[in-house]
Amino acid sequence: MNTLKIAIILIAVGMIGLLVLSYNTSTYSSSYYTQPVSGFKSNGERIYFTATSDSGEPIISSIGTMAMRGMMSCAACHGADGKGGQGRMMMWTFDAPDIRYYALTAGGGNETPYTDELIKRAITKGVDADGKRLEPPMPVWQVSDSDLNDLIDYLKTLK
Ligand code: HEC
Repeated sequence: MNTLKIAIILIAVGMIGLLVLSYNTSTYSSSYYTQPVSGFKSNGERIYFTATSDSGEPIISSIGTMAMRGMMSCAACHGADGKGGQGRMMMWTFDAPDIRYYALTAGGGNETPYTDELIKRAITKGVDADGKRLEPPMPVWQVSDSDLNDLIDYLKTLK
């Protein structure tokens, strides 16, 4: 492993740490940290808030490890209500889009309205409905098709 790779890894690890710390002061902190850790009504809801599935199948994101589960859930960035908003990492602020199902299928900021397949592609491949790459900090997720269906069903319940 060359020095550059090591440097990149160290920077990445540092960024993850700062990202976690900054959630304490982000706009979502209050809604996020008061979420129950158990007693979810559905598998989709559990995944949305904890990035952990009922099936026990790991849901791994491109940023973060198993230990980061929960902190890196969809809710942490897109809000408990799915409406998105502004998140913060150090000096960098980012806008997390509205990912309620009806907002996505109405097109949101994209020209192409999302379908279920396009939502799945966004989550697992990091490409938006128009085919444009989704920028960090949106992670790329490894998640099974049945968990994705459950997650999409949950997004449908967000009003
Ligand atoms: C660390 C913050 C973060 C986490 C965690 C996160 N997202 Fe995102 N997400 C973003 C940001 C920022 C964008 C916008 C990226 C861009 O526009 O390039 C985004 C974009 C998206 C989009 C595309 C929306 C559009 O209008 O094109 C979808 C769908 C989405 N996220 C779903 C999810 C789901 C489902 C989860 C949980 C499995 C999740 N995200 C977790 C930050 C996050």
